[in-house]
Amino acid sequence: MTTTATLFLALAGAVLAGAGAASLPAWAAAATVLLLAAALPAARWLGGSLGRPLHDIREAAEKIAAGDFSARVGPVPGDEHRQLAAALDKMAARIQDDLARLESMERMRRDFVANVSHELRTPLAAVKAYAETLVSGEPRDAATRAEFCREIEGSADRMARLVDDLLTLSALESGARSPAKEPVSVMRVAAEVVAALMPLAQRKRIVLRLDPFPDMPSVQADRGQLKQVFTNLIDNAVKYTPEAGVVRVGAAVAGREVRLSVEDTGAGIPAEHIPRIFERFYRVDKARSRELGGTGLGLAIVKHIVEAHGGAVAVESEPGRGSTFRFSLPLPA
Ligand SMILES: Nc1ncnc2c1ncn2[C@@H]1O[C@H](COP(=O)(O)OP(=O)(O)OP(=O)(O)O)[C@@H](O)[C@H]1O
Ligand SMILES: [Mg+2]
Repeated sequence: MTTTATLFLALAGAVLAGAGAASLPAWAAAATVLLLAAALPAARWLGGSLGRPLHDIREAAEKIAAGDFSARVGPVPGDEHRQLAAALDKMAARIQDDLARLESMERMRRDFVANVSHELRTPLAAVKAYAETLVSGEPRDAATRAEFCREIEGSADRMARLVDDLLTLSALESGARSPAKEPVSVMRVAAEVVAALMPLAQRKRIVLRLDPFPDMPSVQADRGQLKQVFTNLIDNAVKYTPEAGVVRVGAAVAGREVRLSVEDTGAGIPAEHIPRIFERFYRVDKARSRELGGTGLGLAIVKHIVEAHGGAVAVESEPGRGSTFRFSLPLPA
């Protein structure tokens, strides 16, 4: 007979004897015996499971030590066991998260190196080919030689732009270039960029317009960075809008923020590309963007700058009809 059963019989006997002595009603004594009978399997289960928490904890710890960071102890009885198991589970979850983050960073680093090499390869190959032809003495006529030199210059410009954009992004990402905040007139910066890009628009007979917004309050911003945001967005709008289209730059105040928009009547962006459009090197039509001298860093820079200013970026687009890029900047409290 097991210890628990012996204990039960002893207890039942004691209850019945006590019932006789204390003249408990017979039904109360019978109910107590029944209760004890019901408690027997529970006591047995408890006896078995009380020995398991440490076993479960040890098993999970061994799995974690072997590199399986998805192992968890789960619920166990007993306060101290529960706390120990919870601490172990928390530690495993933390290691698992850190590992996933490291893996994702490593993947991004590898992609980044591959992307940069890829982007440099095309202009470098062009420089090499034109230079080799010139060195060989062919062609002889001055006009063709001048054209080859211009091609070399164009490729060098492209590589310089790529390196500049990469340095900007890396400075923004490392936080080394945190925005130097000063009161800035958004409308004045927008007007300067519109004026600078007007010749580009006119070459395509695109109407480039800045909607007036009188008495727009100043924002606290880094002037140079804000200029870069407008430049990248308006440059895209002009670049990706066919001849004779319209690009409108607008501003509004809503609550405690300024909302800016750059709207075009261009090619638009298919919905499936929208979630990735602000990623580094992401381009909807790689060939077309490259042909236009793009490397896919412009919008990544925009997002970084706007977010570093406490604002947000968004885009709405309808393929064939156009796109609207919006960003917000908080107004000083
Ligand atoms: N206004 C727009 N209309 C249509 N497509 C756009 C527009 N703006 C951006 N895109 C798409 O988003 C992609 C990413 O834009 P982003 O400015 O980051 O790179 P890019 O213009 O290709 O190159 P970069 O700006 O580095 O010169 C573009 O290649 C283009 O496919
Ligand atoms: Mg761009």
